[in-house]
Amino acid sequence: MAALPTSATVAVIGAGTMGAGIAQVAATAGHPVLLFDSFEGAVARGIAGIEKFLGRSIDKGKITGAERDAILGRITACDTLEELAPAKLVIEAIVEDLAVKQDLFKKLEGIVAEDAILASNTSSLSITAIGGALARPERLVGMHFFNPAPLMALVEVITGLATSPDAADTLIETSTAWGKAPVRAKSTPGFIVNRCARSFYAEAQRVLWEGGADIPTIDSVMKEAGGFRMGPFELMDLIGADVNLAVSHSVWNAYFRDPRYTPSLLQTEQVAAGRLGRKSGRGWYDHAEGAERPEPLTAPPGPMPKSVRIVGDLGPAEPLAGLIEKAGIPLKREKDPDELGAIHVDAGDAEAVLMLTHGATATERAHWEEKDNLVHFDLALDFGAASRVAIAAADQAAPAALEAAAGFFQALGKSVSVIDDVPGMIVMRTVAMLVNEAADAVNQGVCDAADLDTAMIKGVNYPRGPLAWADFLSPAWVLVVSDGLYGHYGEDRYRPSPLLRRKVFGGAKFHE
Ligand SMILES: NC(=O)c1ccc[n+]([C@@H]2O[C@H](COP(=O)([O-])OP(=O)(O)OC[C@H]3O[C@@H](n4cnc5c(N)ncnc54)[C@H](O)[C@@H]3O)[C@@H](O)[C@H]2O)c1
Repeated sequence: MAALPTSATVAVIGAGTMGAGIAQVAATAGHPVLLFDSFEGAVARGIAGIEKFLGRSIDKGKITGAERDAILGRITACDTLEELAPAKLVIEAIVEDLAVKQDLFKKLEGIVAEDAILASNTSSLSITAIGGALARPERLVGMHFFNPAPLMALVEVITGLATSPDAADTLIETSTAWGKAPVRAKSTPGFIVNRCARSFYAEAQRVLWEGGADIPTIDSVMKEAGGFRMGPFELMDLIGADVNLAVSHSVWNAYFRDPRYTPSLLQTEQVAAGRLGRKSGRGWYDHAEGAERPEPLTAPPGPMPKSVRIVGDLGPAEPLAGLIEKAGIPLKREKDPDELGAIHVDAGDAEAVLMLTHGATATERAHWEEKDNLVHFDLALDFGAASRVAIAAADQAAPAALEAAAGFFQALGKSVSVIDDVPGMIVMRTVAMLVNEAADAVNQGVCDAADLDTAMIKGVNYPRGPLAWADFLSPAWVLVVSDGLYGHYGEDRYRPSPLLRRKVFGGAKFHE
């Protein structure tokens, strides 16, 4: 199917945060746009907001004054729904209420032409359920933009049970023509992003709940080692604890309280206390003017390593070998097919055996693998570039082993955060659970692997798609981590995805 021609009129209903942004996107792409809102003054406010946005674009040199005038000139304010009759595409961005949306689309069926496509920007309602009230549900499609719509590239194009493939294809092509990165998804709770991002917040809260590390340390490790643009607590404070908790509850309830999505008691308490984040001045952090940002826990300088011996394959941590050589530390390498990359650090008076964390604690692993002075280190997006690494010692390890491990990473130019011995540490457990959720979504036919990764990169700025991350680590490694977490906690929440198992035993990757 082809994109709608720019001569086709686009109607936007609801001139609030999302509607105004969507109207701006369509008008910028060259369509005549009709903007309607049932509340008096809302359309004028929406257009004023667009004007302000475009004014900033002029200041930044992105558009000219003439272009701004042309964009604004294509937007017409409407006072009645009937005025939307010429529209070939109607995008609804009104209040998030099923009955109200159904009622609006029923009215629209009697106003717009037979071949007009109806789209809903709902973030949590079922497209199938909205369409259930319509005479012709095949032309109803979800068109889920992200906030702010003019800046965020992702559009989830959602098909309900009755949606026609042609209508969805037209919106995929039209979104592309508008400069967006559309993905296809089946109407299921949370669609792709709001479902697959749950673990990002949940695992951070779980580590905090178990006393594994404090808030600034978790955020710093996720950013400086994990490569995420914002830490989970910073992001929750930006989104608002109430909004984030509501999405968690909505997905959890919609999936019949699958423990995978159980909301955190910690966030429930935040909301109960009115600590909603930036908007209320206090959330996980204090946002009052002049409030000091707490620092992450950073280890004091440890002893300089005298020599290092790497046994086995370091896998994703291989860039560390290059850093060891660059730091001038004598390095010996030994092959051992049975040893999963162990870094033996000799710091004179102290020795440490460093291993990349898997899903068990270092304490369990030291016991099972009979390793003295075992210290786990957490996953990094890129071990060469990471500016911080988290480490956690087994209970059996001597205190000097932890200092030797800190000194080792410091010698490679990294800040070190010592955290408690929680299974999967911080980044590794988060990535493993993001992968599991992503694999489940693909396994359940919500979307394909390519669209899943695009959605998480474009919709929530992840540094790498979860499934590409699984391929990078190897699906087998992620399964080891998941099985470890599952075994450690004995909770259904950590069960490995059937598709992950299948990839491992079939020797395949998510992206072939
Ligand atoms: N805010 C976000 O981050 C975001 C992101 C993606 C999707 N969404 C979805 O977009 C929709 C709108 O959200 P928003 O944040 O723009 O809300 P908003 O409150 O900023 O705007 C909603 C607008 O709809 C108008 N409205 C309400 N009922 C109406 C009706 N029956 N007919 C016509 N106009 C009506 C209101 O006057 C208001 O101007 C919701 O479905 C929401 O779930 C929001």
